[in-house]
Amino acid sequence: MPATIIMGGQWGDEGKGKLTDALAAEAAVVVRANGGSNAGHTIQTPAGVFKLHLVPSGILNPDCLCVVGAGVVIDPAALVREMDELQTRGVGLDKLRVSDRAHVVLPYHPILDQVAEAQRADDEIGTTLRGNGPAYADKVSRVGIRIADLMDEAALLRKLSRQIEQKNQILTRVYGRAPVELTPLYHELIGLGGRLRPHVVPSEILVQDALAAEKEVVIECAQGAMLDVDYGTYPFVTSSSPTAAGACQGAGVAPTQVRRVVAVFKAYSTRVGGGPLPTELLDATGDTIRERGREYGTTTGRPRRTGWFDAVAARYVTRLNGVTEVALTLLDVLDAFEEIKVCTGYALNDITLDHLPARDDLLAQVVPCYTTCPGWLRETTRARHAEDLPDGAHAYVSFLSDAIGAPITMIGVGPARDQLVPTGSRPLVPAR
Ligand code: GDP
Ligand code: IMO
Ligand code: MG
Repeated sequence: MPATIIMGGQWGDEGKGKLTDALAAEAAVVVRANGGSNAGHTIQTPAGVFKLHLVPSGILNPDCLCVVGAGVVIDPAALVREMDELQTRGVGLDKLRVSDRAHVVLPYHPILDQVAEAQRADDEIGTTLRGNGPAYADKVSRVGIRIADLMDEAALLRKLSRQIEQKNQILTRVYGRAPVELTPLYHELIGLGGRLRPHVVPSEILVQDALAAEKEVVIECAQGAMLDVDYGTYPFVTSSSPTAAGACQGAGVAPTQVRRVVAVFKAYSTRVGGGPLPTELLDATGDTIRERGREYGTTTGRPRRTGWFDAVAARYVTRLNGVTEVALTLLDVLDAFEEIKVCTGYALNDITLDHLPARDDLLAQVVPCYTTCPGWLRETTRARHAEDLPDGAHAYVSFLSDAIGAPITMIGVGPARDQLVPTGSRPLVPAR
């Protein structure tokens, strides 16, 4: 059975965790494809709220194999902490697998993240300071240390010694920081490697075996397509590819094996950190969205910037990722508005743009052209079927679907597992 990709359509935090948990109920395997502990994926269940950072969001489904794929960068201490927390809360980890090819985030990576941010001064990206960027930089520079290296004491010592020597030169000579000590770090990593060892596998083989056996494989992306290092709002992006293509690469799945690309969009826009957000609302309306949507970062607790839905960005993302269907989340947040705006074009000087300019300074200058939709002023949180939704909500969803260019098949009306309404719309590519 071919694979399903779940990706964020905006700037992250669209509700990918909740969607992945929902689709995991029908899946044999969930593979996390990219990012690291910069991600924060929330699942609200009757047993409480789970905030996952590295562990795939299928973990609450006991029959689902959960794979941390090769495209993820893993802080092993953070992963072990997360595993311990889950175990304490009664969540079994015998179905957790970790790719031996995934790269390791080491203690010098968050320090380098922090000093790079400090150097950017007013232009800071607002990273999560988890060391993801420097870890991916080491990966593409071909000096990274991988999970497989944690399984081999001699290889680890050799590679770590070389890396620490180089990194300490940078830390001490360029940034005037204290050096990282090799011996305690080496011993810590051997200990963490030992904890992870029972879970470490060549995960791409496991995923391919599952696909060959006609099993349902769900690929969970972190972040969102507008944070993609190639097609996002560069340089205010993350350091991996949270796209459909990136999902394939990170999970070890071929593009020809994908049937569904589910993009998760909020019914409005949010962004954490720096960089352009063309529809940003720096007023009471933006505050209302933030408070109603409880828009505070899952990983860092930072208030999220808020704005109206950006259909220019959404259509761009839909086209580039071959999105076959959309899950529209947090619709309930808009229950309180008399009117709701959607950005359907960008004005830049005298020109109207229907796509995002590559230059971030130009994107920062665009003025959104809005279409105003009437609100519905009725609570949607108890809706469980499409017919429970007010006419105004249907009209808004239908307008967005046309603007995005893909059918909206699911609607989120609250954080709980059952607050997900199937619309009855058919995906662009029907299930085989
Ligand atoms: P992710 O990173 O894409 O998994 O999203 P996050 O978990 O960081 O942020 C999404 C937030 O919205 C979480 O607090 C979810 O519990 C919450 N959430 C998800 N779907 C809905 C929804 O439909 N309505 C409301 N009100 N909250 C939702
Ligand atoms: P999930 O998976 C929202 C943002 C950061 C910063 C930029 C770069 O929960 O949707 P990084 O630490 O990756 O170098 O930071 O990307 N960012 C996210 N924003 N949700 C996320 O993940 C994010 N992961 C990174 O705020 O602007
Ligand atoms: Mg999140």
